[in-house]
Amino acid sequence: MQLRSVRTAKATRDSVHHPVFARFYARASVAAETRMGMAEVRGRLLGGLSGRVIEVGAGNGLNFGHYPGAVSEIVAIEPERALRAMAVEAALRAGIPVDVAPGVAEALPVKSEAFDAAVLSLVLCSVRDVARALAEVRRVLRPGGEVRFFEHGRGGGPVMHLTQRALDRTLWPPLAGGCHVSRDPVGALREAGFELGPYRRMSVPDKGPALPQSFCVIGTAWRPVDDAAPAGR
Ligand SMILES: C[S@@+](CC[C@H](N)C(=O)[O-])C[C@H]1O[C@@H](n2cnc3c(N)ncnc32)[C@H](O)[C@@H]1O
Repeated sequence: MQLRSVRTAKATRDSVHHPVFARFYARASVAAETRMGMAEVRGRLLGGLSGRVIEVGAGNGLNFGHYPGAVSEIVAIEPERALRAMAVEAALRAGIPVDVAPGVAEALPVKSEAFDAAVLSLVLCSVRDVARALAEVRRVLRPGGEVRFFEHGRGGGPVMHLTQRALDRTLWPPLAGGCHVSRDPVGALREAGFELGPYRRMSVPDKGPALPQSFCVIGTAWRPVDDAAPAGR
């Protein structure tokens, strides 16, 4: 009996489980909307989108209020239970239909070529397997579909690089919900077969000394129009 219940607990455990970080992020991210200008960044990230959109790793749903009216539907994937509950609350307040669902970027629980756009907002830092996650994003976008990304990653000079790599090997991921600070989101998108559109490097916050997580990039990429159909689900 005991063995069976242990097995059941293992089988139902969330693959991404960061309850302490979730509580911290819920507070810090809301404060950052005004204090760090994140509300404006989110507006810029999502401006001009239309059609069916998938948002990967939606967190507590802070993007939902920034989607333009031309977006017909949002499917928001969030693996962390506490953040997902907050995203459900945010979805109720959004002016657009938002379907919040559990799942991970590495195995998106949706059909191939079902979306006009995908949104990656501070999530490539946290996924376990960036290449697999981006292969999934490519699969679920229609050919010619758009990726909007706002990510942080590697930046600064040699001392900052060393610091970022040291943090990624030690303290940062366990303290920050699996986040890494030395990844290269633009390089990863290119390697995953996306066509890079315009992107801009920026520092968040934009004043004061740069922190290991300050080196951000905002931009657009596309699944090539002539991309062969991926293996379907
Ligand atoms: C820093 S938060 C960003 C949340 C939100 N996108 C935003 O812009 O505020 C990182 C998010 O990635 C999620 N995440 C972590 N691992 C993931 C994975 N493998 N697949 C999808 N999302 C993941 C976390 O649960 C968290 O919601």
